[in-house]
Amino acid sequence: MKKIIVIPGDGIGQEITASAVKVLKKVDEKFNIGLEFDYRDAGGTSYEKFGTPLTDEALDACKKADGVLFGAVGGKKWDSLPVHLRPEKAIFGLRKGLGLFANLRPTKVYPELINSSPLKPELVGGSDLLIVRELVGGIYFGPRCESELKDGVEQAWDTEIYSVPEIERITKLAFETAKIRRGKVTSVDKANVLAASRLWRKVVNDVAKNFPDVELSHLYVDNAAMQLVLNPKQFDVIVTNNIFGDILSDEASVIGGSIGLMPSASIGELTSLYEPIHGSAPDIAGKGIANPMGTILSAAMLLRYSLNRDDAAQAIENAIDKTLADGYRTADIFTDGFKRVGTDEVTEIICNNL
Ligand code: IPM
Ligand code: MG
Repeated sequence: MKKIIVIPGDGIGQEITASAVKVLKKVDEKFNIGLEFDYRDAGGTSYEKFGTPLTDEALDACKKADGVLFGAVGGKKWDSLPVHLRPEKAIFGLRKGLGLFANLRPTKVYPELINSSPLKPELVGGSDLLIVRELVGGIYFGPRCESELKDGVEQAWDTEIYSVPEIERITKLAFETAKIRRGKVTSVDKANVLAASRLWRKVVNDVAKNFPDVELSHLYVDNAAMQLVLNPKQFDVIVTNNIFGDILSDEASVIGGSIGLMPSASIGELTSLYEPIHGSAPDIAGKGIANPMGTILSAAMLLRYSLNRDDAAQAIENAIDKTLADGYRTADIFTDGFKRVGTDEVTEIICNNL
């Protein structure tokens, strides 16, 4: 049996993970993978039950699993809690606790959705890029101070720290991934200003020597942000630090038309975790209109990377392609002339297309 821990989390996390589990069960019937599902809480939902956004028991269960499927966490209700109790803390606990050092965020443009992108069709058509974001280091995890007085004035600070081994392992993964894609890596940093970025660039150049058949270029993050919308087709694999990856992956999701379609894989030393890149969308939670495709595609990545089942992953991706080609659209990607469907309905259609 292959044990999958499902963590629905908060808001639409509940609905979209339910959809993805339905699809996984259907895939299992067809491909005989032997999937077994077990559920844990995280975020606000866990705080309400256990007084903490992530219990040790939940983290332990993830460590023992073959893969983790995660929905989303967060909501207004918990925004005023102290930092260590906030829902986001669950994500950081899982990332650090499972050693999820690499976050893979692919952006694909579906020909059927080319008009959903706010960017010109001829500009985005055919783009296919992968952001490889460092996920357990940098300013997200460096020492910080929420508030202190300096010369009688209140200040706060965060710290960007990267070590050579941390940069090496993410860079290697990016190059290895580029080798099985189109053989191009763009490393994004701010080496003209930041010391941690200068080390980043040096280490990336060193690692690149072991991959002579992969083409490497460097971009400053401000220019990278501009290039992503000016000419996204120039990119294959983008490797970058935690915070730049966070920002650029939201930007890149626009190329594909909707953040609701974007999956991600967080590759770990122990178990890997799969989640859509969007948040918990409390404004539409419980309405049955959320787009589950990002989560379903994340489940496909789980099959591919954690269970080595490319066949089953491909089947899910094809089923989504067909659903879009047949004109079904959730609210986030709906335009006139298409068939508007809710979360359950689109899940049903995807299952039937498997
Ligand atoms: C993401 C999210 C998280 C992050 C938030 C929810 C803490 O934006 O996964 O991109 O910043 O990493
Ligand atoms: Mg983000």
